[in-house]
Amino acid sequence: MTRRKKIYEGKAKTLYEGPEPGTIVQYFKDDATAFNAEKKDVIEGKGVLNNMLSEYFMTGLGAVGVPTHFIKRLNMREQLVRACEIVPLEVIVRNYAAGSISKRLGIEEGTAMPRPIVEYCYKDDALGDPLVTEEHIAAFGWASQQDMDDIVALALRVNDYLSGLMYGVGIRLVDFKIEIGRIYEGDFQRLVVADEISPDSCRLWDIETGQKLDKDVFRRDLGSLTDAYTEVAKRLGVMPKQANPVSKPTLIN
Ligand SMILES: Nc1ncnc2c1ncn2[C@@H]1O[C@H](COP(=O)(O)OP(=O)(O)OP(=O)(O)O)[C@@H](O)[C@H]1O
Ligand SMILES: [Mg+2]
Repeated sequence: MTRRKKIYEGKAKTLYEGPEPGTIVQYFKDDATAFNAEKKDVIEGKGVLNNMLSEYFMTGLGAVGVPTHFIKRLNMREQLVRACEIVPLEVIVRNYAAGSISKRLGIEEGTAMPRPIVEYCYKDDALGDPLVTEEHIAAFGWASQQDMDDIVALALRVNDYLSGLMYGVGIRLVDFKIEIGRIYEGDFQRLVVADEISPDSCRLWDIETGQKLDKDVFRRDLGSLTDAYTEVAKRLGVMPKQANPVSKPTLIN
């Protein structure tokens, strides 16, 4: 047996060559980072939860006609996806103010946006993923005008799907970030939702209590990140009862 080829090791995931050309295996690590990797930790079980949750969201999006890179989950930590050329943008949708928009514009966290706001950050760790406008995107050729129309439509469809799903289990979708991939088919290209959708990339607040159930728990030291993500998975019925993300030895009589 030859060892499969590692394509990329990121902060949260490692990518391996998939079994067929044009496929990739995403391995979800337990590493958590924030503030452009200034804060780091290993959170046991996070990779398993994000793998299961991303599968759940991507499958649901596919079922309502939103194209994604997802093919199938392989095991507790890995999923098979279509290999894409990633558009170098983080596409953010905000329903309520939180995080950087609150700081930038002095809006209190939790304030409802007049309508969903779509923002773009240029994916460049060395620059700290700076906020950019459609002018920069067009001028520097990161995406065409047609791409941008498709990207906004995709982002808003993801927002409708995810916010409805979350509302149904008592969770407010405050904001989220997605990445978009290009898949080439002959002379054509298709844009799909790529990377991951998980509590690492969304802000999720309990509707009743306001409790944070996303990566802000780690960023702001608000308690156990695994407990928060497990709560999301449980409410959505994603975690199989017997599959504890943190596997401890069990005593067998
Ligand atoms: N379907 C796909 N095809 C190709 N690349 C992908 C696909 N889905 C996600 N990626 C890329 O794989 C990497 C996932 O790793 P991870 O999330 O750990 O990266 P990261 O540390 O956040 O770094 P980056 O700044 O590159 O996003 C990202 O660079 C992401 O853009
Ligand atoms: Mg990432």
